[in-house]
Amino acid sequence: MKYIKPLLILMILFLLIPSSLIAGENAGQSITLVSVQSLGPQRIGTLPPVPVPVDNPQSSRKILLGKQLYFDTRLSKNNTISCATCHNPAMGWSDIGPTSTGIHGQKGLRRAPPVSNAAYSPLQFWDGRASSLEEQAEGPMQNPVEMGNTLDNVVKTLNGIPGYVREFKQVFGTTPITIDQVAKAIASFERTVVTTDSRYDRYLSGNKNALTPLEKEGLAVFNGKGRCAVCHSGQALSDGKFHNLGAGKAGASADTGRYAVTHDPRDMGAFKTPTLRDVALRPPYMHDGSEKTLESVVDFYNKGGMKNPGLDPLITPLGLSPEETKALVAFMKTALISLNPEVAGVKPLPPSALPR
Ligand code: HEC
Ligand code: HEC
Repeated sequence: MKYIKPLLILMILFLLIPSSLIAGENAGQSITLVSVQSLGPQRIGTLPPVPVPVDNPQSSRKILLGKQLYFDTRLSKNNTISCATCHNPAMGWSDIGPTSTGIHGQKGLRRAPPVSNAAYSPLQFWDGRASSLEEQAEGPMQNPVEMGNTLDNVVKTLNGIPGYVREFKQVFGTTPITIDQVAKAIASFERTVVTTDSRYDRYLSGNKNALTPLEKEGLAVFNGKGRCAVCHSGQALSDGKFHNLGAGKAGASADTGRYAVTHDPRDMGAFKTPTLRDVALRPPYMHDGSEKTLESVVDFYNKGGMKNPGLDPLITPLGLSPEETKALVAFMKTALISLNPEVAGVKPLPPSALPR
């Protein structure tokens, strides 16, 4: 109880600070740093309920159906690839990377971001080109290097599997199965893939012994000298915005990132801030998997990212000592691991003659 009052005061303070300062989008960086530091760890907190669109309410039956679809390789052209191939729960809902391998062993250009906690993200994909999980779900099925299918063919396949026809009818009340329903069911399942309980959450809820002394030091660096919380902010540890760090610029191909969606020159080379929950479970890092370890990520930030014309002004050399680096890495590695790993027991997939 005794934590409630200071927490409330901090929340009110937080609401009074203009969001542009918190996001650090523009000038006035020194003010940003002061406000972040003075707010301390309370400015990021445990996850609230996920937002659910009015036209796709959650139901337990729809969630179970979405879960089956998520793990079903029959959504791909040749029955070899499912969503879970690239967003594997055992790999922090991502894959081994650096970039994903889709149908016929084809390599994509970007790293698979986690599906866990994606429900909190206002825009989906590294460049934010999809504005909902429903819209996002239709992308991979028809992406020639991912699942290589057409939406018409997905629907045709599913309508040929009696178990699915029955289940969709139960959930949506109509036949035949439509692609809209497929996307809705998958999105409903994804909204349940949230990782609300890490030791960090327990610490924020008032259990001061939930973090080790080293992790606490790391958290202080994260919120203070490292300026990490400026962008990795909020309960999901992401501001949901796009920034250019220069990651991958050293590589042969320079991905234009958010620019390809907005055509705004300020978005050149900018990518969505990823959540850091469970981050230790899914190396390598960045949109192209160009950083192998969390140590190398911190090293990258410590040097001030990779110089390029669009580099975010917040990315400057940090001057972190080896001790501070070690603490920061420890915080990310162990304090942010969820203690409630989702997805036990997927319902058996409805049978058909197709291989899977
Ligand atoms: C071949 C690998 C592959 C498959 C199969 C695949 N994905 Fe992805 N997924 C990716 C990659 C790579 C990205 C990032 C692409 C980008 O940003 O341009 C991504 C992005 C996403 C995102 C956005 C997350 C975020 O934070 O922006 C979600 C959600 C997602 N996928 C869900 C799914 C679902 C649902 C399926 C199955 C219908 C699926 N994926 C199939 C590789 C894959
Ligand atoms: C200016 C905003 C900003 C700041 C400040 C920032 N980050 Fe990031 N972070 C991002 C963005 C954007 C990406 C993805 C960049 C890309 O892939 O090109 C990212 C990626 C990462 C990743 C890789 C995660 C993954 O799943 O690939 C880690 C780890 C990370 N940041 C940790 C930190 C730490 C630690 C700090 C402080 C030292 C920090 N960040 C400061 C915006 C920021």
